[in-house]
Amino acid sequence: MAEAALYDTFARVPLRFERGEGVWLVTEGGERYLDFGAGIAVNSLGHSHPHLVEALTEQANKVWHTSNLYEVPGQERLSRRLVDNSFADKVFFTNSGAEALECAIKTARRYQYVKGHPEKFHIVTFEGAFHGRTLATIAAGGQAKYLEGFGPKVEGFDQVPFGDLEALKAAVTEKTAAILIEPIQGEGGIRPVPKEFLAALRDICDQNGLLLIFDEVQCGVGRTGKMFAYEWTGVAPDIMALAKGIGGGFPLGACLATAEAASGMTAGVHGTTYGGNPLAMAVGNAVLDVMLAEGFLENVRDVSLVFRQGLASLKDRFPDVIEEIRGEGLLLGIKAKLLAGELVGAMRDEKMLAVPAGDNVVRLLPPLTITAQEAREGLSRIEKAAEKLAAAELKKSA
Ligand SMILES: Cc1ncc(COP(=O)(O)O)c(C=O)c1O
Repeated sequence: MAEAALYDTFARVPLRFERGEGVWLVTEGGERYLDFGAGIAVNSLGHSHPHLVEALTEQANKVWHTSNLYEVPGQERLSRRLVDNSFADKVFFTNSGAEALECAIKTARRYQYVKGHPEKFHIVTFEGAFHGRTLATIAAGGQAKYLEGFGPKVEGFDQVPFGDLEALKAAVTEKTAAILIEPIQGEGGIRPVPKEFLAALRDICDQNGLLLIFDEVQCGVGRTGKMFAYEWTGVAPDIMALAKGIGGGFPLGACLATAEAASGMTAGVHGTTYGGNPLAMAVGNAVLDVMLAEGFLENVRDVSLVFRQGLASLKDRFPDVIEEIRGEGLLLGIKAKLLAGELVGAMRDEKMLAVPAGDNVVRLLPPLTITAQEAREGLSRIEKAAEKLAAAELKKSA
């Protein structure tokens, strides 16, 4: 094996997966792992979903890339379907979540600009947020560990504590263009925002001519048991960023907006080489074929109930390991009593994958195609991991 020549930016777990089937990943050595990480909420339909494989290979045999200089029929279809199933009127396709957020930020700033308010370019964000790793999105996320060493923070992002309405009101000035929030914080530790809070943000935006931007890169596209997390809240944004689950593993993101919010995004002001290319569109449309089919989201909600109940009883049985269960649908988090990394490691020893998050939380984000039986298999592996950790804790304190 050749020595890797990679940037050292990722501390990788020494596991090498060769193939996947549904909720399972199989290593080069043939070991099967139950995948409750789903590539960090990406493999929404699991691994090697036959409909996605077929859509991608069929498109690969036709044309891969033509550029946005020409019409792309797959974009027209996917944008129409996203619009028909959301608050939005218009869509811009990207290759990633951070680019979807960049488009959302630019859309909000341009809106204010064409309305005669170039001074309104500030965006209010929330502590614990994660919006990506570009220069603007690390400024939006506001986390010191991601900003350090990258030069001056991009101007125009004002951060307030999570859930603090008074601080938010105080942060809105004549320079504010928009408010940006994840309806459920993902990297921040699966922290749902109460719907009353989102409704208050909507009011503040309406009263002050601001745009409300939802980042549904992680919580959107079926993850919570509705197509979009905001549908649980009764509060619609003006702009929304999507990625991850919409591509089911193919790099794809999208920025959705109302016609009014997108009114500044005229010909030539924004662009992308790859965004919305035919391969991505074939997969995105195939993801929607499955998710919009009768009963799909209902199954997400049903399995979530089974899984949540099981997790609640594990919490009662292992109070020294599990502090709290959080989340919606299949965007769930275990707030750990010991280090979240230890719990992720113990689960990995049971051949189950999960993803650590902020606030000492372990994220459980299985493919949305998971069955109740597979969810129970997951519970039994978490149980074994918790048993071992609880026994080790007991030994330490003895
Ligand atoms: C809520 C949220 N926004 C944005 C991003 C950035 O997406 P990407 O890594 O595709 O750029 C992420 C990625 O984890 C995310 O969870």
